[in-house]
Amino acid sequence: MNRREFIQFLAVLGITASHLPTALLASNTTWKQKYDSALKNDPRLIGHQNYAQERQAESLVIEGEFPKDFSGTFYRNGPALLERNGIRQKHLFDGDGMIHAFKFENGTVSFKNKFVQTQKFQKEQEVGRFLYDLSDIGLKNPEPVSSADAINNANTNILPVGDEIWALWEAGSAYAMHPKTLETKGAVTLNAQLKGAPFSAHPKIDADGTIWNFGLDYASGQIIIYKLNPKGIMQKFGLVKTDYHAMLHDFLITDKHILLVLPSLTVNPKGKGFAAQQQFDKNRSMRVLVVDKNDFSLKATHEFPACFLFHFGNAWEEKDGTIRFDGCRYPNLEVLHRMENIMQGDTSLMKDTISQTVIFTIYPDGKTKQESFADSTEFPRIYPSLTGKRNEKVFTIGDTKNAQWADSIRSMNIDTGKIDQYVYGEDYLVEEHVLIEKTKQKGGYLIGTALNWKKQQTCVSLFDAENIKAGPLARAWLPFHIPLGFHGNFKMV
Ligand SMILES: [Fe+2]
Repeated sequence: MNRREFIQFLAVLGITASHLPTALLASNTTWKQKYDSALKNDPRLIGHQNYAQERQAESLVIEGEFPKDFSGTFYRNGPALLERNGIRQKHLFDGDGMIHAFKFENGTVSFKNKFVQTQKFQKEQEVGRFLYDLSDIGLKNPEPVSSADAINNANTNILPVGDEIWALWEAGSAYAMHPKTLETKGAVTLNAQLKGAPFSAHPKIDADGTIWNFGLDYASGQIIIYKLNPKGIMQKFGLVKTDYHAMLHDFLITDKHILLVLPSLTVNPKGKGFAAQQQFDKNRSMRVLVVDKNDFSLKATHEFPACFLFHFGNAWEEKDGTIRFDGCRYPNLEVLHRMENIMQGDTSLMKDTISQTVIFTIYPDGKTKQESFADSTEFPRIYPSLTGKRNEKVFTIGDTKNAQWADSIRSMNIDTGKIDQYVYGEDYLVEEHVLIEKTKQKGGYLIGTALNWKKQQTCVSLFDAENIKAGPLARAWLPFHIPLGFHGNFKMV
C-alpha cells in the first residue's frame, strides 16, 4: 500500500460511522413483554435474561477431581447487560460484554465476573439508560453514533495477550483488562494511525506466538490485516481491497497464507440495525481470498456455492499446494435472525438454522470441493498448536435432538469421520468448549461451561479431549447462573 492509498483509507475510516446503524425513533417495546412472558413458560430462556450484577464465588462445589497440576484461568465473554430502564435490546449482539473468569488452583475453583468498562458502558451507566439505538429499540432521543468505538460493547471473545487479557468485538478496538482483577485498562491502540479501527473477535495464533487478525471496514470494503507479536505489539499491517461490506466474523491462516472467507451476504441499508441490514444473496458465491502472509498481496480468489458461516476451525496446506479448511456452514442467514427471535422469547425451530461441519478443499488447479461431516455443530476449536497446520480432529458443540439448543460436545476425526461425543442432557444449554494442550504428553483437556436451566446454575466441566465420551473428569458448580455467551480462552498460570 502506498502513501496515497493509505491516506485514502484513513479518510474512509473517519467516515465509518456513516455506515453504522443510524439512530432511530420508534415506540414499539413489546419485545420485552414478549420475552418476560415467554420466560415464565420456557425456563431455558434464562440464558438470555438481563444480567446486571457483577458476582464472585470462592470454592465452587466440585464433582469429581480436577488434576492437582491443572492451574490457570478459563475466561469467557458474552453479552450480559441486555436491558436498562425497562428497555430491552432487540438483538443479542447488542448486549454489553461481561467477562467471566474461572480460576483453577490446587484442585479448587473460584470465580468472578466483571463488565468490560467500554466507553459506551461507562456513559450509559452514568445516566442509567441506553444512549444508542442500535436495532430500533425505541429510544426517544438516541445519541448519534460518532464512531464504531462509541458503540463498541466488547462482548464477543476474550484473549490472553502478554500480561493482559483483551476483550474483543468486531467493528472496533480491543479492550485491555487485568487478567486477575478483571479491571478494564482501556481501548487498545495498536498504532496511532489505526486508532479505533476494526479488530475482529477471532485472532489466530501461529505456533511461534505471532498473533494474526483482520478487521473489515464496512464502508470501504477494505480489510485490515494485523500481525502482532505475542505481547500484542504491532509488527506489520496491510490492506486487502474488496467489494464486500457485510458481516465478516472469522478468518483463517495456513503456514503461508491468510484466508479471508466472504460469505454470501450483502447489505440492505434500509434495515434497522446491523443485523437487520445483513441479507443473504443465494446468487452470490462464497468467496475465499488467499492472501500472502509475507506481503499481504492477494494471490487468488476461489468460489464455493452460496452459504453463510460464522466460524472456522482450522486451515492448512498440503505439500502440493492444496488448501483445506473447515467451518460450520448454514444454508442462509436465518441463524442471525433467530437470535433476535430468542431475545423476544420466540424459540420456534427454524430448519435453516441447523449448521453442518464442512471441509472445504481448494486444489492447485483452482477446482474446489466441499464435504459435510456432521449436523448441528458450532463453535469449532482445535488443539492450539495445530493452528495453520494439518489437524486430525475438530471439536464442536452439538445438538443431538435438533432442538436448536446445544446439548453436547464432540470431536470429529476428519480423516475417518469417527465421532467421540458426550451428551450433557436436555437440562443443559451447552456453550463453547476449548482445548488446553498437555505440556508433557500428547493430547489435552477440553473445558467449557453449560447452563443447567432446571437448577438455574452454570457449571464448568473438564474432559479428557481424547476420551470425551467418558464424561467429565471433574465439574465445578457456580451457586448461580451466568448468561449464555460466545467465546472464551484458557490462560495457563
Ligand atoms: Fe464468533
